[in-house]
Order: sequence, then C-alpha cells, then structure tokens
Amino acid sequence: MPALVLLGAQWGDEGKGKATDLLGGSVDYVVRYQGGNNAGHTVVVGDQKYALHLLPSGILTPECTPVIGNGVVVDPSVLFSELNGLNERGVDTSKLLISGNAHIITPYNVTVDKVTERFLGKRKIGTTGRGIGPTYADKINRVGIRIQDLYDESILTQKVEAALEVKNQLLTKLYNRRAIEAGQVVEELLGYADRLKPYVADTVLILNQALEQDKVVLFEGGQGTLLDIDHGTYPFVTSSNPTAGGACTGSGVGPTKISRVIGILKAYTTRVGSGPFPTELLDEDGEALRRIGGERGVTTGRDRRCGWFDAVIARYATRVNGLTDFFLTKLDVLTGWEEIPVCVAYEIDGKRVEELPYSQTDFHHAKPIYENLPGWSEDITKAKSFSDLPKNAQAYVRALEDMSGAQISAIGVGPGRDETIEINSFI
Ligand code: GDP
Ligand code: IMO
Ligand code: MG
Repeated sequence: MPALVLLGAQWGDEGKGKATDLLGGSVDYVVRYQGGNNAGHTVVVGDQKYALHLLPSGILTPECTPVIGNGVVVDPSVLFSELNGLNERGVDTSKLLISGNAHIITPYNVTVDKVTERFLGKRKIGTTGRGIGPTYADKINRVGIRIQDLYDESILTQKVEAALEVKNQLLTKLYNRRAIEAGQVVEELLGYADRLKPYVADTVLILNQALEQDKVVLFEGGQGTLLDIDHGTYPFVTSSNPTAGGACTGSGVGPTKISRVIGILKAYTTRVGSGPFPTELLDEDGEALRRIGGERGVTTGRDRRCGWFDAVIARYATRVNGLTDFFLTKLDVLTGWEEIPVCVAYEIDGKRVEELPYSQTDFHHAKPIYENLPGWSEDITKAKSFSDLPKNAQAYVRALEDMSGAQISAIGVGPGRDETIEINSFI
C-alpha cells in the first residue's frame, strides 16, 4: 500500500491539521518528518478543538500510530506538556513512536534563537522563538544532541560541552548574556530520559516494514513550501524541508514508496513573520480576511498577514513537490465578496512574469496582476458535494484548479471534520 504526503502549499497554516485528521481514520501511521513545535496544527472534532505543535495530528485517531521521524527537532518539555494536555482530555497517546535519531531542541538553542532575533533588529526573520533554526544549525554543524544520546551520559556530557564551547563565547562576548553551564543542561536532559524511553524506536525500520505489509503511511508536513529552506523565500524561511523530498529524508522512507503528494492550499493567502508577500492586503479586505478566517497564529498568537490567492505560488508548489492533488481549504471564508481578485501573474520591473522568479530581488519587486472572479453570497458551510456549491463558487474552484496545475480533490467549507467536500478519494 502507498505512502502519502500531505504538506503546506503556501506559507503554512493552510489547514494541514484538519486535512490530516480527516484522513486519520483511513491510515495506519501518521508521521511528522520535519520542523518541531514551531508548527501549530488545529483539529476540530465535534465541539472539541485541539492545537497540536509537535505531535502528529493522527494522535487523535485511536487506530492510527503517530510517529515523530528522524527529521523532526524535539523539545522534550514541550512534548511532555502536549502529551499531558491530551491525556487530561482523555486522548490515549501510548502508541506514539519517536525516532532515536531525532535531534533535541536544548534550552541553549531556544536562547540562541531569541538573542539572534533581537540582534537582527528590523532585519529579523520573525521566528517562533522555539529554537528551531539553532537546533538544525547544530545538526548540520555536527554538534547536535540526538534523543539516543540521552541513554549514554558520558557521550551526552561530551556533546553538550562541545556544543556550548563556541556558543558560550558568542553569548558572553557578543550578546552580553551569561554563559550556560553544561552540567545543568545535561542534568535537565537526563531528567527526560526515562519518560521518553518507551516511545523511542527504530522508526525507519518500523515504517518500511509497515509499507511492506501493505499498511498506509501518511506524512504530515509542518510549515509550507514557501517556508522551505531550499525552495522557499530564503532567508525568510524555516530551517527544514517541508517540501515533499523532506518526507523521505526526514523518515527514511524512499521516494519510490510515495504514490500521492497532496498540497493543502488556502483559498486565499496568509503568512506569519517577515518576508515578501506579493498579494498582501493592508486594507479593509485584509482585515476582513483576518477576522472572518480567524487568522491568528496557533503557536505565537501573532496576527497573520492576509492577502488574495496567488496562483503563481500554487503552480510553484505543484512543481517543487510533484503534487498530485490539492485540498483547497477555507473556501467558506470568501463568502460575501462581490468579486474576488486572484493573482494570475506578477509584474516585475515592468514585465509580466508567469512563474515564481528564482531571484530574491525580483520576488521582492513582484506586483500581483489580478483577475477578478465573481463572488457568491450563499452560505456554503453545509455543502456536502461539489454540486451543492453556488455556481460562482464552483467556477472559483475550477479557475484555481486550472491555474494551479493539479486537481482539487477536496474542499474545506468550515473547520470541522465534516465540513469538507470530497471530490476524489485520497486512499
Ligand atoms: P495548519 O498549521 O496548516 O494545520 O493550519 P492552522 O491550524 O494553523 O490554521 C488553519 C485554521 O483554519 C485553523 O483554525 C482551522 O481550524 C481552520 N480551518 C481549516 N480548514 C478550514 C476550512 O475549510 N474553513 C474554515 N473556516 N476554517 C478552516
Ligand atoms: P504550521 O505547521 C506559519 C514561520 C515563522 C517565521 C519563519 C521561521 O502551523 O503551518 P522558525 O521558528 O520556524 O525558525 O520561524 O517560519 N513559521 C510558520 N508560519 N505556520 C507555521 O507552522 C510556521 N512555522 C514557522 O513565523 O516567519
Ligand atoms: Mg499552523
């Protein structure tokens, strides 16, 4: 049976949590493959609302095994508080598996994230301040701490000392902060070891064996295509690969096993943090999208920047991820506009450009070229099939599909599990 990847096609917060939860009942494993608790995935089940940061959204489906893959960065204190929160609400989390190769977000990584942002001033990235970038930097610099290191005190001590050698110089001499004591960090990390132990597993072996036994594995991306360290709007990106290739490196499952790549696509666009955003609206339409769409960050509580749909970005997401399908979310939020502008191309220095420019300078200069599509005023939140949608909403969806380069196989018309129109089945 196949592996499926479900990922963000824009700048994150497209509704990946809802989409993953929807498929949760039909899959055996849900795997996070990159990122960490910078993510905030909302799942609404009946009258219950869950905000998941590090745990895969499949954790809410009892039949499904949630997996934190090797590509994820794990803050153990956040993990435990998330597990505690779910346990208190009656969710069984005992099936969780965590790769021993996943890197740990240490307290000093969180400190470095915060002081670096402060140091950058108005050039800051606007990170979530969760230590994501510095932890991935340590991984690439080969001074990272992995979960398996918690089970060898001597190695752990050596590694923490090595990691702090340069950081303490930076903290004290450049950032004017106190040095961090290796012994204290080791003690704190060792304090997590016993509770983590039952979850730690050889997830590469388990996932590949599951696929051989015809089980269904769903990869749940964090962040989104335009936040990808390689393919996003660098340097205003996160420090991992949310794009489809990341599902392979971040889990140890080869690309030949993946049969479907589903891009979660909001019917308009949002972004949190700094960086270019051609269709951003700084007027009352932007304010209305924020209000109606409830566009406030799940992790940091920051207001999300809002703008019209950008088809150039959607096409780009189709290309770099090899998307087979889109799940179009939040169509209901657009109800009530007489006309809905959609960005079909950019104007860059006087020229019409159809595809995302590779040059950062050009992208910063990109001005949206809009086509206005007719809107609708009927409530669509109860629509169960495509034909239940008003004609203009149908035409909006079809226009987005034509511009974006992959079939739209599901449409979200509300935050709840049932508020979804399925067009083509995913499994
Ligand atoms: P994620 O990070 O991609 O999982 O997305 P977030 O949870 O950060 O943000 C998406 C928000 O939109 C959440 O509040 C969801 O409950 C909500 N949502 C998801 N799909 C829909 C939809 O189709 N319609 C509406 N109105 N809300 C939705
Ligand atoms: P989900 O999974 C939206 C953004 C931050 C910042 C940049 C780098 O909920 O879609 P980081 O802390 O990762 O180093 O910050 O990336 N960012 C997100 N934006 N949704 C997310 O996750 C995000 N995770 C990180 O705002 O601009
Ligand atoms: Mg989110």
